[in-house]
Amino acid sequence: MSLRVAVVPMRSRHVRGVVAIEQLTSPRPWSKELFASELKQATSRGFVATRPDSSVAGFACLMSTGHEVHVTNLAVDPTLRRQGIATLLMLRLVAETQTWGFDDMTLEVRESNEPAKALYRRFGFEEEGVRPRYYAETGEDAIIMWVRGVGAEPYRRRIDEIVATLTPSSDNTVPPDSERTTGR
Ligand SMILES: CC(C)(COP(=O)(O)OP(=O)(O)OC[C@H]1O[C@@H](n2cnc3c(N)ncnc32)[C@H](O)[C@@H]1OP(=O)(O)O)[C@@H](O)C(=O)NCCC(=O)NCCS
Repeated sequence: MSLRVAVVPMRSRHVRGVVAIEQLTSPRPWSKELFASELKQATSRGFVATRPDSSVAGFACLMSTGHEVHVTNLAVDPTLRRQGIATLLMLRLVAETQTWGFDDMTLEVRESNEPAKALYRRFGFEEEGVRPRYYAETGEDAIIMWVRGVGAEPYRRRIDEIVATLTPSSDNTVPPDSERTTGR
């Protein structure tokens, strides 16, 4: 099955769809005000995967500290998972990090969140630390993951390999803001 989505910068018109997914997904959901305020920060970026009918299929946010980039949020509509949407969003976050000129990315993930950890490992993230009982609602630990050297050639090859799994074409670039098919 393949799904047509376009990964584009998050705008205020997307926030309603983003919050709907966030509320279905997160035990500690960001509010629409928080997303709106993130959109205004020069050091933050948000992206959405939109469908041809303009509905939001998923979203991802990142923030630069000036030294590295933090993936601060990422979720896909529960009815559209396992079709490569998070992969497209992660490709965009990596491209944005490379454009910013940073080499390292980090994030925190619930210890029990195996789907997300598998996705991040595919993008080269490795577990480097733990924040004990970080998630107040459940007392669960946060795993701190990092990937280093995203601007370097070996990592660019890794990204090319991921892109090659998305479509049968030899087009290994991810044009910003353009539509593509997940190819699954
Ligand atoms: C984690 C999440 C974003 C993945 O979205 P997705 O669009 O389904 O992911 P993709 O289809 O791009 O999957 C890419 C890879 O991630 C891994 N993965 C994704 N879902 C998985 C699952 N349920 N079990 C195991 N591995 C999984 C696989 O390696 C997969 O590649 P494959 O399908 O070729 O095996 C989605 O499950 C989600 O929204 N979860 C709730 C929110 C969340 O946990 N966000 C992360 C917070 S840190």
